Amino acid sequence: MTGPVLELSGIRKTFGGVTAIEDFSLEIFPGEIVALVGDNGAGKSTLIKIVSGVHPPSAGSIALDGQPVVMSNATMARMLGIEVVYQDLALADQQAVYMNLFLGREPLTALGLLDRRRMIAETEKLVKELDVRIPSAHAAIRDLSGGQRQGVAIARATHWASKLILLDEPTAALGVAETARVEEIVRSLKKRNIGVLIISHSLDQVFRLSDRICVLRRGKQIGVRDTKATDKNEIIAMITGLKQG
Ligand SMILES: Nc1ncnc2c1ncn2[C@@H]1O[C@H](COP(=O)(O)OP(=O)(O)OP(=O)(O)O)[C@@H](O)[C@H]1O
Ligand SMILES: [Mg+2]
Repeated sequence: MTGPVLELSGIRKTFGGVTAIEDFSLEIFPGEIVALVGDNGAGKSTLIKIVSGVHPPSAGSIALDGQPVVMSNATMARMLGIEVVYQDLALADQQAVYMNLFLGREPLTALGLLDRRRMIAETEKLVKELDVRIPSAHAAIRDLSGGQRQGVAIARATHWASKLILLDEPTAALGVAETARVEEIVRSLKKRNIGVLIISHSLDQVFRLSDRICVLRRGKQIGVRDTKATDKNEIIAMITGLKQG
């Protein structure tokens, strides 16, 4: 068996006097989907920002493929193979899908020009593999539906992530059918052996998608369960701290 792609040990994060995360430890294996759940303000987004290099942890350690890493910024996390998809998308609305896939990391031709042919070919290949249903690689982002946009954002993350994709409520703004499409795309990441950490407030979604569920309550790690070995009642009790009748 291969080791974890991500290993968090004893992570703590304080903002001034506020403890957002205390003593958090978790392993994520290649091809595994782990859901991170908890009420508003539990510390979920903070945790993702720690793993994506946005916030340095106040204590604790992070290892990727068994190697300890200290990430001083988001660029460094991306270089190490970690990509993030946020609920409010960071796509360039006026630009074509293929430009968005390479935003800030565009390949150049030998003459130093944008290598559009390569960008378009790689976009078409990826969109097909992930079954992201967009009209074409040339379509402008503003002309896509919310689900299609989120598909592009996940395709971009998939293109660049070699180890880990972090999803912070990726379907919060989407309708039922669009959510189902995005869930299929997330599921298809398993085949690529990428580890996935997904934050979601929808327990239905969490149970449809995840292999394991990790619960946070007010910055404390309440527990981690195998999805198959738990149920909604138990997870709700863990999130709220109240026994379910
Ligand atoms: N940059 C920051 N500065 C100060 N406090 C912060 C900062 N970021 C987060 N916090 C605090 O840390 C705690 C956890 O916030 P976080 O955004 O991680 O919660 P969350 O679980 O993602 O909530 P939600 O479900 O509402 O998105 C909150 O009390 C929040 O106010
Ligand atoms: Mg959040």
